[in-house]
Amino acid sequence: MSNAQPFLYLAPIRGITDSLFRETLFRHFAGFDAAVTPFINPQRKALYEDNMLRDVLPEHNGNLPLVPQLLHTDPEQFLVLAGRLAELGYNHINWNLGCPAPMVARKKRGSGLLPYPKEIVAILTKIMPQLGIDLSIKTRLGFHDPAELPALLPALDDFPVKEIIIHTRLGKQLYKGPTDPDGFATCRQKSSHPFVYNGDINDLETFRMLAARFPTVEKWMIGRGALANPFLAEEIKGHPIEPAETRKARIVAFHAELYERYIDRLSGPGHVLGRVKQLWIYLIISFPGQEKTLKKILKSNTLEAYDKAVDQLFSA
Ligand SMILES: Cc1cc2nc3c(=O)[nH]c(=O)nc-3n(C[C@H](O)[C@H](O)[C@H](O)COP(=O)(O)O)c2cc1C
Repeated sequence: MSNAQPFLYLAPIRGITDSLFRETLFRHFAGFDAAVTPFINPQRKALYEDNMLRDVLPEHNGNLPLVPQLLHTDPEQFLVLAGRLAELGYNHINWNLGCPAPMVARKKRGSGLLPYPKEIVAILTKIMPQLGIDLSIKTRLGFHDPAELPALLPALDDFPVKEIIIHTRLGKQLYKGPTDPDGFATCRQKSSHPFVYNGDINDLETFRMLAARFPTVEKWMIGRGALANPFLAEEIKGHPIEPAETRKARIVAFHAELYERYIDRLSGPGHVLGRVKQLWIYLIISFPGQEKTLKKILKSNTLEAYDKAVDQLFSA
């Protein structure tokens, strides 16, 4: 590994890593250098008023380096949204070629476009000359087959793509099954673009193994691993590991602020509970042996029941 600190992106996790979550996470935990937003839903009426762009509005994002993500495959619509994002001050946007959700992939969006390299090249041919800001791509090794992305990559060398973030799985795997670092190595041989590694960096040991295997990779992206262990980015950056009580107190403070802000921002307990429960599915890893209390958290359907279950977990 080079002596320089690795650059860490917080991965987009739609339904969790919205502006409120990102701001709160970054206030309580160090280590991340930037975040990519969950994709902005393509709209039929491509006006992109401020209320549709709430998650990326600068007033909701503090000083956080942020890369908005687009899922569009229609070049005109892509450029309309990119133009709005440039007006908001963004100079780097990301194109999602990785989403595996059947509703998305069936429309040949996200990873559903990977089996069609000519269409990807045609879209880039239309958008790149007019873009005026940096574009990175977040993708997978393929949809059906790990040969798909390597087959596309030589053609991407014709475009000034800033970097290519690879979640080292196939679209058809969704979020499960093994990642494929060998597939990442193959991709790097097929392209002159910088690559960002993503997928199952869930602990320091895994990061170290990958960093030793890919010593010239400078940037890494972490999603679920940081939701499960919010200290992970700090650990990777070499911050000293604090005593268990201090770590717990920091998670308690983070949760308290996040919960309060959800109550302030979201309309009604149902939405608040929906959000915090999503987080607990991952964060419970930081509380080993507490799976029963997780069940109580996930079953709670009032804020009172939720508070009681969370108090029980934090005081154990
Ligand atoms: C619930 C969920 C929502 C996600 N939403 C997005 C998204 O909006 N855009 C995107 O590029 N990736 C999205 N991802 C993929 C993650 O950014 C990341 O690539 C993937 O989880 C692998 O990294 P990890 O193992 O570090 O989490 C999502 C993943 C999950 C589990």
